[in-house]
Parts: sequence; structure tokens; C-alpha cells
Amino acid sequence: MASVGKLAASILSADLAYLADQVKLVHEHAEVIHIDIMDGHFVPPIALGTVVVASLRPHTDRTMHGHLMVDAPESYFEELAEAGLDVVSFHHEAVAEPVTSIDKARSAGLRAGVTLNLETPVGEVFPYLDHVDDVMLMSIKPGWSGQVLDPEVYPRLEAVRAEIDRRGLEVDVEVDGGVKIDNARRAVEAGATVLISASGIFQASDPAENARVLRAIANGEAA
Ligand code: DX5
Ligand code: ZN
Repeated sequence: MASVGKLAASILSADLAYLADQVKLVHEHAEVIHIDIMDGHFVPPIALGTVVVASLRPHTDRTMHGHLMVDAPESYFEELAEAGLDVVSFHHEAVAEPVTSIDKARSAGLRAGVTLNLETPVGEVFPYLDHVDDVMLMSIKPGWSGQVLDPEVYPRLEAVRAEIDRRGLEVDVEVDGGVKIDNARRAVEAGATVLISASGIFQASDPAENARVLRAIANGEAA
């Protein structure tokens, strides 16, 4: 069981004109930089992409995790790996054969995870749970930062965590959307090992301090 919790800082609500500086603000506390990639088809907005990964790579030694909210995610794996991405998560809803997509990500040199929308039964990931490095559960409608976490995600986190533990797997459970200091502990208690936060960090008056507190909560420490 993955026991050390992590914080992923999602740059979607950072000031992108100063991206490297924004990321450095939270370096001390965030093990992961979460990069939301949207194609305007799988979700309405377009956002970020390979050039952002390549631009940021020389400025951070943190794990760079791409969250692909795109159709046909496999077509981007090679270029994202070349740009310096470390981990890719695609949506379960976007692929026909998740295990094939995971194998393609690994062949490109990436670690691989899967993301589930709130409407997708969590049991759909169980048949291939032993193939993934992480499972990311959306706690909002994907596409936008700044929404409120849907409490429906808590029993979903519990169900995925219980299945991972029952099978003795080393799979991270991530929660994405609306994670703030006041609800983060509940998400960790439900089984999340990685807290993802954009506005909870970058829209705060003191991003480094919010990142510090969220990281402590992720790791089960008193904040
Ligand atoms: C939304 C993205 C999230 C987003 C979270 O589609 O997947 O990662 O950046 O933003 P907050 O933390 O503001 O809800
Ligand atoms: Zn995301």
C-alpha cells in the first residue's frame, strides 16, 4: 500500500505568464506538478499541451504528471514523453481498451494512470487495477478549475482504496477537483494518497503556505 501521501500542484489556475516562477513557489511542498491537457472535444475547453510540458521541464525536477482530457489520448504519448513528461493519465471514458493504452504509454517511457469521471462506476477500473500506477477520481466536472468538490467522491475513494488494499497493490489514489484545506483531510481519510489542487494553491494569498498545509494533510500530519 502506498503510505506516503503526496501533493500535486495543478498549474491550471497559476499565472501562466510566470509559470516557472509559480511552480518554484510550491516546489518545497509539491512532489508532483499536475498539467491539465484539454482538446476541446473530450471537454469543451482547450488548455495547455506538449509545448507547456517542454517549456517547464528545464525549470523543475518534480514529477510532471499530464492529465489528458482528450479523445484518442494514445496519439500524444510519444510527443509528451519526448517533451519530458513523467506520468500520463488518460480518461477511462476516452479509450476502448485501457490495458492497450497503458501498454502504449509504458512503451513511450511513461508511467501510466487512469482517470474516472464522477458518473463512471468505479468498478469499471477494477479489472485492470493491477496494470496502473495510479487511479485518479474526478471530484468535479473535468474542464475547469475553481469548482466545488462533489462529496460523491468520498465513497468512490473508499471503494477504490478498499479494492487496492484487498489485493495488496501499490497504486496511488488521486483526487482531482475542488480540493481545499477544509476538505482535504476527509479525502485522505477516504483513501486518497495524492491530493491535486489548483485554485486551493495558486489562487490563495500565500500559495506556498497553502501547499505546505495541503502536503501535511496528504501525508497524514497535523497541519
Ligand atoms: C479540471 C482539472 C483539475 C483542476 C483542478 O479539469 O482536471 O486538475 O486543475 O482545479 P481546482 O483545484 O481549482 O478545482
Ligand atoms: Zn486535472
